[in-house]
Amino acid sequence: MKQGAVMPKQPFSKRNIWATILLLMLSSTLVFAYTEPPVNLISARANPATIAEEFISASKVAVFSKTTCPYCKKAKGLLNSYNATYSVLELNLRADGPLIQEYLANKTGQHTVPNIFIRGAHVGGCDALFQLDKEGKLKDLLASSAANPSTAAKQPPTHPAEQTVETILAHSKIVVFGRSGCLACLKAKKLLDSYQVAYTVVNIDLRDEEDGSEILSYLELRTGRRSVPNVFVRGESVGGNEDIHDMDRAGSLAALLE
Ligand SMILES: *[C@@H]1O[C@H](CO)[C@@H](O)[C@H](O)[C@H]1NC(C)=O
Ligand SMILES: *[C@@H]1O[C@H](CO)[C@@H](O)[C@H](O)[C@H]1NC(C)=O
Repeated sequence: MKQGAVMPKQPFSKRNIWATILLLMLSSTLVFAYTEPPVNLISARANPATIAEEFISASKVAVFSKTTCPYCKKAKGLLNSYNATYSVLELNLRADGPLIQEYLANKTGQHTVPNIFIRGAHVGGCDALFQLDKEGKLKDLLASSAANPSTAAKQPPTHPAEQTVETILAHSKIVVFGRSGCLACLKAKKLLDSYQVAYTVVNIDLRDEEDGSEILSYLELRTGRRSVPNVFVRGESVGGNEDIHDMDRAGSLAALLE
């Protein structure tokens, strides 16, 4: 009889073990969810549309890719065979990759990678790139400085740097033109961070196109300022690091950035 009273405890304590295991699994999932990169935070700071559009406009050949995708490798191999310079954005290596992919799907109707743009015009995936090659069009497209066939009707830009700057400004409310090692640029970005606003950084020394000095010349022409940072809000230069700190002290920066 005594044993009978003890017996029911066995399955109960087993259930306890399972409950503990379940709890542990749940809590480890929670920890995972908590430590994962804050996707929404990043996308709020620089939204996927801005990132994608800036990448497309700043790269002669823009390849949205994933390091794990064989067709991406194949497409890059074809570009390599032409010694083409191209820029790659690996979506699986960034927290906002899925959002950028969603933006591209919205923009181009293509959900897959690689998603390739040449001179701002959508080409498509790996098959489309190989098709262009088969038709003998890819080589010229990569070599020529003319616009892509789909935009050929438009006047090719006389000043590529001007085109680049204006495209970036058209797509981002706040833009900081700077250099990667520049202390004043760092301070300006820190101040913007303190306002928790999204902004686009264009480091003129890190550009694939090596058009940094042309960009500086165009910025000088447009704003009278050759030094960096050169901070733009809604397409207009608001000055450098000192200027935005002055505005901060005067209390006028918040309204400007709104
Ligand atoms: C690419 O570069 C290599 C090495 O400079 C050269 O041998 C080859 O002919 C080039 N290919 C094309 C398609 O320009
Ligand atoms: C894609 O389009 C859908 C439907 O219009 C929209 O809700 C979503 O926010 C868009 N996503 C991105 C990343 O632009």
